[in-house]
Amino acid sequence: MTTLNFAIVGTGGITLQNHLPGLAMCKDVRVSALCDTNPETLEKARQQTGVEVCSTKFEEIVTRDDVHAVIIATPNIAHKPIALAAIAHGKHVMCEKPLALTATDAKEMAMAADKAGVRHMTAFTYRFVPAMRYLGHLIAQGDLGQPYHYRSCRLQDWGTRNLGWRQVKALAGNGELGDMLSHRINFAQHLVGPMKRIVANVKNLTPVRGGAPNDTEDWVGILADFTNGATGVLESSKLASGRNESWRSLDYVEVNGSEATFEFTTGKWDELQYGKLGGPGLAPLKVPREFWTWPGSPRDPSAGDPLVAFRYDQAFEFVDAIRSGRPATPSFHEGAATQVVMDAALESAASGKWVEVS
Ligand SMILES: NC(=O)c1ccc[n+]([C@@H]2O[C@H](COP(=O)([O-])OP(=O)(O)OC[C@H]3O[C@@H](n4cnc5c(N)ncnc54)[C@H](O)[C@@H]3O)[C@@H](O)[C@H]2O)c1
Repeated sequence: MTTLNFAIVGTGGITLQNHLPGLAMCKDVRVSALCDTNPETLEKARQQTGVEVCSTKFEEIVTRDDVHAVIIATPNIAHKPIALAAIAHGKHVMCEKPLALTATDAKEMAMAADKAGVRHMTAFTYRFVPAMRYLGHLIAQGDLGQPYHYRSCRLQDWGTRNLGWRQVKALAGNGELGDMLSHRINFAQHLVGPMKRIVANVKNLTPVRGGAPNDTEDWVGILADFTNGATGVLESSKLASGRNESWRSLDYVEVNGSEATFEFTTGKWDELQYGKLGGPGLAPLKVPREFWTWPGSPRDPSAGDPLVAFRYDQAFEFVDAIRSGRPATPSFHEGAATQVVMDAALESAASGKWVEVS
């Protein structure tokens, strides 16, 4: 088996947390080149990884003949130009979410990747939580019945601290919508199907964060009609004071259907709550062992913190898709479909009206 050489563009937080350990778990994979526009961040990553091919210019990295695949983990504004350059040079691309700043850009990226015949993946990391995969499986096999309602609530306490590029619309595109709700919009599409129309609102309650201007929203709420007749309510906030952050805070999804209710929380990686129509109420439903890791993943589910380690299966899925010559899950198309809903949410928030999701 030939070694797959990966370049990583953007060597900040998520690269150190997810992408490097994920790739380290994959057989016959090597990180061969690194790029970051911040020379200090790049040097830190060089020292940590021992990778000697480093540049502050992505063009020098994604065009290299010895690079087979690229991971893009930069602020959102840079996703599209880096992805298009990598695709133009025949590289497989995994790009962080939100895929782009607009649905038009995201679709362009998906079409370019398909046309070039490269593998493409959007890093919707929480799709790799074992309980989410099991929930998708149960719904696909009909245990929910006809879907009635989708509900998701992501509540974190980020206070009023400075969020760097995340609080600059020109770099991030938007705030909580792309940062956190994009994952939950993707869950909704994965579990229930496409949305038909939505009405949404966004709110910026902290115009100054850590002494610097913030022109992005802290809170977003969406009311949705799905094409199959189900309804959706999605809410996400950075200002749920006292709720803590990350997987220690609330990340809740509930789906109600004609036969049952299922509840998922990221904090419970191996358990759903389940209630049957007419039954006594919700009770724990353990995730079977076969769902603890992504199909084929070499990850030992008993190693490390399971609330962190499930993320490494994302890199495995991308590598496996490249080796097998099959589409990766979730693809750029899922990233673009999420972006269509995000655009509609911003349009609705601006107009105060329902917006069709085309
Ligand atoms: N999938 C997830 O669960 C998840 C979690 C966190 C972040 N993210 C996404 O990952 C991306 C990065 O987030 P982060 O938290 O790692 O941010 P970060 O600020 O910690 O790191 C981003 C890095 O990119 C570098 N950079 C900026 N512009 C660049 C360019 N043009 N070329 C090369 N490098 C550039 C910065 O210097 C920085 O080191 C964002 O799109 C974010 O939404 C996804």
